[in-house]
Amino acid sequence: MCGIIGIVGKQDFEIKEALKMLKRLEYRGYDSAGYGTSSGNIAKCVGKIENLFEKVNNEKARVIIAHTRWATHGNVSEKNAHPHADCKNEIFIVHNGIIENFLELKNFLKERGHYFRSDTDSEVIAHLIEEFNKENNFEEACKKAFSMLKGSFAILAIKKGYEKIVGIRKDSPLVVGIGKNVNYIASDIYAIIPYTKNFIFLHNYDIIILDSNSIRIENLKEGKVKRPIEKIDVEIEEEDNNFHHYMIKEIMEQHKIFDYIFEKNKENFLIFADRIRNSKKIFFVAAGSSFHASIYGYYLLAKLGIYSQPILASEFKNFKNLVDKDTLIIAVSQSGETADVLDAIRIAKSMNSKIYSIVNVYGSTLMRESDYYLLMNCGFERGVAATKTFTAQLTAFYILYKILKNEEFSLEELRAKVLDLLGKSRREFIDKISEVLKEKQHIFLIGRGISYVSALEAALKIKEISYIHAEAFPAGELKHGTLALIEKDVPCIVFLDEENKDETLSNAYEVKARGGTIIGVSPFNDPVFDIWIKIPDGREDIVIYQIIPMQILAYLLAIKKGNNPDYPRNLAKCVTVK
Ligand code: M6R
Repeated sequence: MCGIIGIVGKQDFEIKEALKMLKRLEYRGYDSAGYGTSSGNIAKCVGKIENLFEKVNNEKARVIIAHTRWATHGNVSEKNAHPHADCKNEIFIVHNGIIENFLELKNFLKERGHYFRSDTDSEVIAHLIEEFNKENNFEEACKKAFSMLKGSFAILAIKKGYEKIVGIRKDSPLVVGIGKNVNYIASDIYAIIPYTKNFIFLHNYDIIILDSNSIRIENLKEGKVKRPIEKIDVEIEEEDNNFHHYMIKEIMEQHKIFDYIFEKNKENFLIFADRIRNSKKIFFVAAGSSFHASIYGYYLLAKLGIYSQPILASEFKNFKNLVDKDTLIIAVSQSGETADVLDAIRIAKSMNSKIYSIVNVYGSTLMRESDYYLLMNCGFERGVAATKTFTAQLTAFYILYKILKNEEFSLEELRAKVLDLLGKSRREFIDKISEVLKEKQHIFLIGRGISYVSALEAALKIKEISYIHAEAFPAGELKHGTLALIEKDVPCIVFLDEENKDETLSNAYEVKARGGTIIGVSPFNDPVFDIWIKIPDGREDIVIYQIIPMQILAYLLAIKKGNNPDYPRNLAKCVTVK
C-alpha cells in the first residue's frame, strides 16, 4: 500500500505531470498525498491526489518525489502525509511499508535533539539521514540510515539543492524507468509506462542513486551490483469516459478476458497442468478474492481426484511443516505484490517447494519470484474491488481443469454467455433488486460446492464497497447455528448449480420457513425464490455466470448508498503490508 514516485530530469519537470504519474498509483492508497522537490518545496493534502493539483501552479523542478498514502501509523492528516522532512526542512523522504523498529530509532534521535512533527513510523528516516549527514555526504548518510531500518520499505530520499534521488527497497517494490535525460522511479511500472519501455527492477536491499542520466545500484549486503534492463511493452489503456467508475468499466469488459487468456498462454497452461499432474502435494496460497478463486481451483481438482488444499496466505506460516520439496504451491494474486502472499511463497521456497503463480501484473514481485507463472492478460485493474481479474482467475482454473480432464472446451461459448449477462436489461433488473437490498443491514449468501465460491466472493464484493454486512456459508452449514439470525425479510442469496441443486434448495426452504427473502441466482426457477436472477446454464463454468450479476449488484448498492466504489473507505487495491 502507498504509492511512491520519483523523477530526476536534466531539465525542469512539471509538478502537475509528476502528479499525473502519481495518480496512476492512487489505487495503492488514497487517504492523503504530497510531493517534495530539490528546490526545497513541499506540499501535502488530505484525500485524493486531485486535492494536491489545486496547490500547484506552474511549478517545475529537476528532482521531485511524491507519495499517495494508505495510513498504517498515525491517522489521516496533513501532518502524517508524506513527504516527511528532517528538522531543518531540507531532507525529504517518501516511504511505502512499515518501519518496525521506529520507536527505538525515534528515541535514539530524540536523545540527539531531533524534533518530530508527525505520528508516523516513516518520519524517523528523514531524521536518521539528517543525523548521519552531519558527518557524511548525503549518499553515505542515506546508506547508513537505511542500514538501521527493520521492516518493509521502499524509500526515496532527496535533499534541497542536491540533484539526485537516493532510494532503497526491501520487501516493497521499486522499479526504475529509463528515459532520455530523465529517469523515473516508482512503486510499479504502471506509473512510468507512458514515459518509457525500459525498466530496471530493484532487488531486496538494493540502494539506488538516480541521476538524470546515470543509475548506480549497490546492494546493502552484496556491494556493487548490475541489474538488467528489461524492455516491457504493455499497452496503456485509455480512460473511458463512457463509465463513471473503473469498477463498472472493468465489469463491462469481462467478455474480453476469453480472447487473450488462453491464446497468449497455450504452452504455459500445458506446462502448468503437467506440474499439477505430477505433484505429490498441492497448496493454493492467496488472499481475498484470489483466495476465493483458489477455493474454486481446489473444488475442481477434487473433482479430478487430485488432493489439494487452499491456505490463506496470511496463515501460511502455521502450515509450513507440511511443505517440502515435493510440494507445489499455486500462488494466486492479481497484483503479485500482496505482502502475505509474498511472505508465504518465500517460506515455501525456503522449504524447496516449487512456486507456480497465476498473476495479472507483469513484472510484479510474485511473477519474478515464481518458478513458473501464468499471466491473466486482462489488462490493468484499477477498481479496488477485483472483478475482471477474479473472472480471469476462475477462467484459468477452468482451462486447467479441462486440460487435466482431457476434455474439449470452448471459450467462445463462455464469452457469449458473459456478454449476455452484461446486457442492459439484465443490469436494469439488478438495479431493481439493489433498491430492495440497499436498506438492509445484513445479507446472507449460500451455495454448495463450486457455488459456495460465488457466495464467498459476492459477500466480499457487497461488504467492501456497499458496507452492508454480508456473510457467506456453505448452504448446508447454515442450520448449524446461523439460522438463528434469520427472521422476517432477512435477505438470503442462494446460488444453484445442477450438481448441488436439490440439497441447496432444501436449505433455501429452511430460510424461507423462518421469514427470509430468497433471491435465487440460478439457471432454473423454483417456487422458493422471491426474486429470480436468471443466469445461463453451465457446468464448472457456472461460477462465472453467478458472480457477474453479483458484481453489478455490489456496484449498484455502493452507488445507491453514496459510496465511491473505486475508492472504498479504509481499503487499497494492493495490500503490501502484513
Ligand atoms: O492482488 P491480490 O489478488 O493478491 O489481492 C488480494 C486481495 O487483497 C484482493 O483480492 C482484495 O480482497 C480485493 N479488494 C477484493 O475485491
